[in-house]
Amino acid sequence: MKQDFKSLYNPSLREQKEQIITKDGTKTLYSKEFDECYHSTNDGALNESLNKHIIPASNLSLHKNSLTILDICYGLGFNTLTTIYYYQKHRPNTKLHIISPELDEGLVKSLKEFEYPKEFEGLKEIIQSVSSDLFYEDSSIRIEVLIGDAREMVKSIDKEIDIIYQDAFSPKKNPALWTREWFLDLKSISSKDLILTTYSSATPVRLAMYESGFNIYTPPKADVRSGTIASLIELDLEPIDMELKKIRNPNAKALVDCDLFYNF
Ligand SMILES: C[S@@+](CC[C@H](N)C(=O)[O-])C[C@H]1O[C@@H](n2cnc3c(N)ncnc32)[C@H](O)[C@@H]1O
Repeated sequence: MKQDFKSLYNPSLREQKEQIITKDGTKTLYSKEFDECYHSTNDGALNESLNKHIIPASNLSLHKNSLTILDICYGLGFNTLTTIYYYQKHRPNTKLHIISPELDEGLVKSLKEFEYPKEFEGLKEIIQSVSSDLFYEDSSIRIEVLIGDAREMVKSIDKEIDIIYQDAFSPKKNPALWTREWFLDLKSISSKDLILTTYSSATPVRLAMYESGFNIYTPPKADVRSGTIASLIELDLEPIDMELKKIRNPNAKALVDCDLFYNF
């Protein structure tokens, strides 16, 4: 039976969003469709983006001066914009190509009006361009927002990805972007030394990554809730022994596509 991913979403609620102020003073939104905020209100939108995704991934890819980054998914664009803010400050000679799927075109189009933190003051031209044209390019940065279902979009990517920010809504609310089949698709477009960052530390998600061939690590300590770093090579980080986890918890199972249609 063909799996209909469209049945997992509710476009009739998509426009319903509320603005929320997070703990670091930066603004995010609450989505009625997913019944969840776009960022952790406790960690703060900018703080979460910097410390969960951008800094850990950058520190593990210092040997590269050109990076292709897959930002899953664009949302309010914090991960894309924080990447540019951080690299302009700390790694100004790095070329950045950011590719970011996003289901919600109306959201991206509205972002020219969004009240971003003062750290993004210098990024106004980029914010305008991505919001209007879903695209931005200059001599060192290229941003492409791909409107549509990320499950389909990743299949059309023909670039080797160096970094993935895995930042969908939670596995409970947005399960199609956390399954073994999803991570296998991500692996197929990854460079051999890919770094994946995510806020999720759920065992079914870690097993889905592990069973797709990723090594699983605890992120370095930072001022945000812990998550996971995954990689296709060995990293100098604290590894998580997934075989031991399976022995200790024989009922633990990787999240797989057929769970979305039969158990949820
Ligand atoms: C947690 S938010 C991302 C926050 C974003 N990284 C930021 O920094 O603002 C999750 C995003 O995933 C999008 N999304 C959910 N399922 C998707 C899918 N199947 N394909 C593309 N985008 C999807 C939602 O519309 C939402 O914008």
